[in-house]
Amino acid sequence: MADKRRFDLFAELIRSRFPDAKRIFDVAGGQGKLNDALLRRGCEVTTFDRRHKHLPVKFAEREFTLDEPCECDAVVGMHPDGATRVIVEYAARHKVPFAIVPCCSDNSMPYKPWMRHLSELGRTLGLTVEEVELPMDGRARVILGRP
Ligand SMILES: C[S@@+](CC[C@H](N)C(=O)[O-])C[C@H]1O[C@@H](n2cnc3c(N)ncnc32)[C@H](O)[C@@H]1O
Repeated sequence: MADKRRFDLFAELIRSRFPDAKRIFDVAGGQGKLNDALLRRGCEVTTFDRRHKHLPVKFAEREFTLDEPCECDAVVGMHPDGATRVIVEYAARHKVPFAIVPCCSDNSMPYKPWMRHLSELGRTLGLTVEEVELPMDGRARVILGRP
């Protein structure tokens, strides 16, 4: 069971690490709870997810791809599963920072190699990457990248 504090903790981290990023793309945002947490902290957020049922937040009910026009200052994802890799690639392509809290890989890779792979992907694409940990239960490690 994922930690219910995760949205507020991640929103705080995003605001503190990317203070100039006001327009945020929240990828694979599920019901939109991270959107809501960032909204309460003064951000303008669009959540991308295929889900039909979600909170009344700005929501793009579709798959997030590299072709999405870049109308954001940062791209983020909490446990974004199959969309994790595309967040890193999108950040590199559009030269915006990213923050992800990876959970499951998109190819059955175990957690630690998956984390190493994502950091390496960011570096290979020219981003400066660091890892931090949120004070919560479950998969709590965050990978941050900057152009
Ligand atoms: C484990 S859930 C996490 C949802 C939410 N971020 C949370 O922490 O509760 C993963 C979500 O990723 C979404 N997803 C996977 N690939 C996606 C893609 N390419 N674009 C948008 N959403 C995607 C799924 O629909 C699902 O809601």
